[in-house]
Amino acid sequence: MSFEKNAVDAGRIPEHIAIIMDGNGRWARRRLRPRSFGHRAGMEALRRAVQTCGELGVRVLTVYAFSTENWKRPQEEISFLMGLLQEYLGRELQELHRQGVVVRVLGDISPLDPRIQAELRQAQALTAGNRGLVLNIALNYGGRREL
Ligand code: FPP
Repeated sequence: MSFEKNAVDAGRIPEHIAIIMDGNGRWARRRLRPRSFGHRAGMEALRRAVQTCGELGVRVLTVYAFSTENWKRPQEEISFLMGLLQEYLGRELQELHRQGVVVRVLGDISPLDPRIQAELRQAQALTAGNRGLVLNIALNYGGRREL
């Protein structure tokens, strides 16, 4: 188990948890490391969060990973983040499937690299019939767009 069992009240597990993947840059800066180091640590934190939510019986985990505002970041950082997303899918998809996770993608992914779109669709198709944690990955999402 990847969490402190005694710290969790089994009768009060939330149905839905939403995480804004924020603060990666500040986390890295406090450690005198580049932002990319923080983003990579953010991805690892997500991996642990998914596993823990699955083990605790949380039904839905929504992660806000990349907003419409994030396109304003330097191209190099955007490319790095897209690479991380691909790495996450490449490395974790089979394990997510094994854990029974249902991967769903929220947001308009049409501006993303076609290969990433294909991998996201593949992840959704592979896991659509699973019965475990629903992992919503919000990409290119934004309040303005929703309105
Ligand atoms: C915000 O931190 C974080 C992001 C904009 C990106 C989060 C996305 C990933 C780690 C990519 C991988 C995604 C998945 C779903 C595996 P920040 O840079 O705004 O930090 P700061 O506020 O401290 O500057």
